[in-house]
Order: sequence, then structure tokens, then C-alpha cells
Amino acid sequence: MLIAQISDPHVSALEGVADSLLRTSGHLARAVAHLNRLERRPDLVMITGDLVDRGEVGEYERLRELLAPLRMPVFLLAGNHDDRDNLRRVFADHGYLPRAGLLQYTVDDWPVRLVALDTQVPGEAGGRLCGERLAWLEARLAEAPERPTVVAMHHPPFALGIPVMDAFGLDGSDRLAAVLRRHPQVERVVCGHLHRPIVRRFAGTVACTCPSTAHQLALDLPPANRLAFVMEPPACMLHLWLGSDGGLVTHLSLIAGEHPPFTVHDGRGGSATRSRLRAFIRREVGSSLN
Ligand SMILES: [Fe+2]
Repeated sequence: MLIAQISDPHVSALEGVADSLLRTSGHLARAVAHLNRLERRPDLVMITGDLVDRGEVGEYERLRELLAPLRMPVFLLAGNHDDRDNLRRVFADHGYLPRAGLLQYTVDDWPVRLVALDTQVPGEAGGRLCGERLAWLEARLAEAPERPTVVAMHHPPFALGIPVMDAFGLDGSDRLAAVLRRHPQVERVVCGHLHRPIVRRFAGTVACTCPSTAHQLALDLPPANRLAFVMEPPACMLHLWLGSDGGLVTHLSLIAGEHPPFTVHDGRGGSATRSRLRAFIRREVGSSLN
């Protein structure tokens, strides 16, 4: 099973700031094309929040158009830039989305179970896991203790060492850790929000964040304390389930134009020729330094 994760596309209306300044729609279109081109097709795609920039219906309609070419099912999570009701109005046919209240759900159709948590607090940049959300999580994890599980949510539950983002984190992360420690079937906690790839041990499992499909957060470690974005190459996460022996392996896949590989052995007895190697060096290696 292969789970593709993209995050924080921040789609806006055509004249919106995110689109005109950062070209977020164009970046999401490129991410969709990237996912469709993968030789090993993902079984599903999940998008870990900040789907749109201002939570407006028109933005969600644009998001819907941009996701339409995806050749695999897509599962949506809300981030701090989203509006729950507008999201579910435009994606009313997404049957996994609850019709009211928090946008939390499970996906049970594949070997790895997904549990989506809603960390959003309307009007606030930071997130929260209140008693209701954590009780729901505890109940869902208790339902299937033998099934490998990925918990997905927008806000990461740990400090990052990036002061400006740590100022508004996730309220309730200590209680989340207590829940997760009781359920060792959780292979991964996957998040968005940071617009950077970050990995950390958390509550007996591994937690990671996914880059944005568009703009990334500048890596400002202490003592820096600014908020800055940078147009580093976007990327997606590919979570590959290798079975109970191999576990869940997370790969970072850059969405940065086409870079055809040079085949050294093709797995069927064929090897590279010198002329092909020379052509590859002329075409790819030189341009990689530009
Ligand atoms: Fe974001």
C-alpha cells in the first residue's frame, strides 16, 4: 500500500493574493500531475490541511477543479486557513466527511488504517485537541488495536525549534501523547502546517510534517525569530507499507520538474552503455549545477 501526502496548497481565487503572488493553484496542478506520473501509483492521496487560503466557497470550488485529474481517491483535512462548513458544502459527495461538527473520520479500506483528526480552532492560527477530539481518537484506536494505523492532522504535536511557529502550536499535545502511548499500532503521525519536512520521535511513534505544494517556511533556527517564506522546491511524502515485517517507510518526493533517472541495471540483465551515460551527463548532470 502506498499513501501519498500533500499539504498546505493554499488555493485562492484567481485574483486572490495566494494565487497572484505565490501561484498556489499552478503549484497544486503540478503536484497533481506529479502524483499521476508516479510509476508506483499511490492507493490514495491525503491533503493535510490549509486546502485553501481564506476558507471561501469559490476557493474550494477551484480546489475541486484542480484535484479532479487525480487518478486515485483523495481525503481532505482541515487546517487553520480552512472553513469546515464551506469545505463540506463543496465536497458534499465526499462521503467520509461528517455532515456536521468536527471533520474527523477513519478510512478502513486498505491495510493501513487512516485516522484523521481535526485540530482546527476557527479564527486562530494554533490548533487544539480538546477532550471531545481525544476521546474520539481513543475510541477509534481501541476499535482496531491490531491494525497498523496512520494518524493524520494539520498541526504537528511537537515544538519545532523554529521560534516563530512554536509561538502558536497545538494545545493538547501532552494528552495526545498519553493516548498514543496506549496504542502502539500507530505507525506514524503525519501533519502539515509547517511547510517544511520535519521528523521527530513522539509518544512511542514517529511524527513528521509534509512540505507545502507551493511556498515553504524559511528554516530559521534560534536565535532567529522572523517569519519568512522561501520558494524551495515543493515536495510530497510517500508512505510505503511493506507489511508487518518491513513496516511503514516514508519517502520525500520532490515536485520540481522532471528529472529522468539514469538506469545502471534494469533488473532484467540489461546494463547502461557508455554512450547513454555520456548523453545523460550532457543533459542532466551539467544542468543540476545551474
Ligand atoms: Fe499552511
